[in-house]
Amino acid sequence: MEKLVIHGGNRLSGEVEISGAKNAAVAIIPATLLCQDVCRIENIPNISDVSCMIKILNNMGASIRMINKHAIEIDTRGVNSYIVPYEMAKKLRASYYLIGALLGRFKRAKVALPGGCNFGVRPIDLHIKGFELLGATATVENAMINAYADTLIGSAVYMDKVSVGATINIMLAAVKARGLTIIENAAKEPHIVDLANFLNAMGADVRGAGTDVIKIHGVKELHGCTYSIIPDQIEAGTYMLAAAVTGGDVLIKNVIPKHLESISAKLIECGVMITEYDESIRVESNGKFKHINVKTMPHPGFPTDMQPQISVLLSIANGTSIVSEGVWDNRFRYADQLIRMGANVQVDGTIAVFQGVSELTGAPVRADDLRAGAAMIIAGLCARGTTEIEDIDYIDRGYENYVEKFRELGADIYRKNFADDEENKNHAAG
Ligand code: UD1
Repeated sequence: MEKLVIHGGNRLSGEVEISGAKNAAVAIIPATLLCQDVCRIENIPNISDVSCMIKILNNMGASIRMINKHAIEIDTRGVNSYIVPYEMAKKLRASYYLIGALLGRFKRAKVALPGGCNFGVRPIDLHIKGFELLGATATVENAMINAYADTLIGSAVYMDKVSVGATINIMLAAVKARGLTIIENAAKEPHIVDLANFLNAMGADVRGAGTDVIKIHGVKELHGCTYSIIPDQIEAGTYMLAAAVTGGDVLIKNVIPKHLESISAKLIECGVMITEYDESIRVESNGKFKHINVKTMPHPGFPTDMQPQISVLLSIANGTSIVSEGVWDNRFRYADQLIRMGANVQVDGTIAVFQGVSELTGAPVRADDLRAGAAMIIAGLCARGTTEIEDIDYIDRGYENYVEKFRELGADIYRKNFADDEENKNHAAG
């Protein structure tokens, strides 16, 4: 029951260290089920989506040893269940990766339909189609996906639509299938490559990840390994935007600049100065921005998960900017919150038109989902006055230690318990 309070206007400066990638971690942790051994995973982000995934594995019989804040050992030898109940699966979207991983391990999976952020309809037909092409039967009954196979057999899987989740799920189910699986029109996001590298470190034979054709030669057994997760592209992008809108000068460390190219390109177009180093990126801004157009697309296009954050900058850019959302059908719900802060935004389906205003002003707002929440922080940081953000559980799902990280950069941001407000009210009444 906490909210965030931000007194806006401070220029961010200094250095920030980026954590391990959420979307890679939530795929790699279930992938450990594919071996009956111990995997040591490093650079794990300390966020609630990751702790939920670890709890699910623990509940299924895996033993987990925390080595330090960012490294764990997962011993999957004791896993004896292929069922993931609703109470566990509802907590995160990525729980559907357990279907592919359990199919690979037990040829059976019974997993409740997943929860996660609501960007409109989030179907899983491509996942199911992929499992079926590998020889599994998959049905949905009582909101549980029930999948089983006598034998998983490699197959050609053509994706009608580029899907990160379906690409990952099919990779998980195929690594131990008999023969060759070819995924065509595969997603190319950095975490797909990271998962492939992890699977290969376990003894799998996955080639072509990062291109739109992934070839997987099934192997009989996988073994434990030590693996370090890549840095989080979206966390890094979020700090880039925060630095830019506050007219800041921030060195963002522990990043892969190549993963940030689409974000850097758009910031440069707006007039922000970006300098790339081997494993860090510097953002320098004078707080003045040119209007631009942005279209979100699968990687290497501009990431949909950065759309709300860049929209904050476009709210205060000079002139009219158009943002088209090319991945999700309902990802502008946060626009109402930005309007409360003085932005001039008109949304029509998957298009939003931003007429830049000279400044945003602080207001009580809410986080509609994880990245919308990140956008509210960015808006609060550059707004005049005080912004209070509710529903911050969403933000906790994907950003490690963000209050401390932003404070280190000079932001005036803190968590406040709702109870404090109640107490104040009672005082006033008394
Ligand atoms: C992942 C990310 C999410 C990001 C998204 C797109 C994780 C845990 N989440 O979500 O943050 O916004 O990629 O980069 O990594 N689709 C279908 N049928 C399917 C599956 C998807 O039609 O079976 C459609 C979706 O409705 C959407 C598009 O394909 O329009 C892309 O979805 P997908 O790439 O699968 O997103 P997720 O893996 O759920």
